[in-house]
Amino acid sequence: MRRPIIAGNWKMFKTLAETRAFFDALIPEIQGVEHCEIVVAPPFTALSAAAEEAEGTRVSISAQDVFWEPQGAFTGEIAVRMLVDAGCAYTIIGHSERRQFFAETDETVERKTRAAINGGLHAIVCVGEMLTERDAGQAAAVVRHQVKGGLGKFSETELSRVTIAYEPVWAIGTGRTATPEIAEEMHLEIRKTILEIHGPSSAGAIRILYGGSVKPDNIASLMKCDDIDGALVGGASLDPASFAAIIKYS
Ligand code: PGA
Repeated sequence: MRRPIIAGNWKMFKTLAETRAFFDALIPEIQGVEHCEIVVAPPFTALSAAAEEAEGTRVSISAQDVFWEPQGAFTGEIAVRMLVDAGCAYTIIGHSERRQFFAETDETVERKTRAAINGGLHAIVCVGEMLTERDAGQAAAVVRHQVKGGLGKFSETELSRVTIAYEPVWAIGTGRTATPEIAEEMHLEIRKTILEIHGPSSAGAIRILYGGSVKPDNIASLMKCDDIDGALVGGASLDPASFAAIIKYS
């Protein structure tokens, strides 16, 4: 029912030439892939080049962040309409690196998500606990709080333009993937939270991606879990061959 999404988050990697070379290598590898949506999130500077490369292919382009104001004196920020203009269909919001290093909060996540979906983008909203929170037995509580704080006020229609990415901070870039059991348990917890706030139809429809050291050799076991609807891939999305292998997990 829920169409899987495999999304690559390039973070602060790749120039224009590297972006073009990536697509030249990726596109022939994923001809005929129909079982999932494919999303690539380059840095801002490479968005329009990526959109040009992806035109007429199955790949959609995503930003990694966005600001909530439509325009104005906000040095260094990027508005939703600029992303749409550059060819984006998606934006990531509230990645744990933004929360940790750039003071992103559930409140800013909500404002950005509202702006993104009202402006015609699909939002990939990230949640996930730190290692200390998991060790203290608070993982579920932390993630429930992030989901309620970031997405609690949206209507069912608005929520249909949102995908959640569960990314335990201790698994990001560490090579330590959550086991499928841990991931599934947390995805269920997130779906239950959506059920409580928004009801069964939103809870059944919303897609929840797993992120954190997803690689070609662990994607299949993650995707076997009922509540895992795809992956947000960092490091392994930078290499076209490994990203293609992840896309072709089944
Ligand atoms: P990783 O990053 O795959 O390199 O762990 C995932 C992410 O931060 O989205």
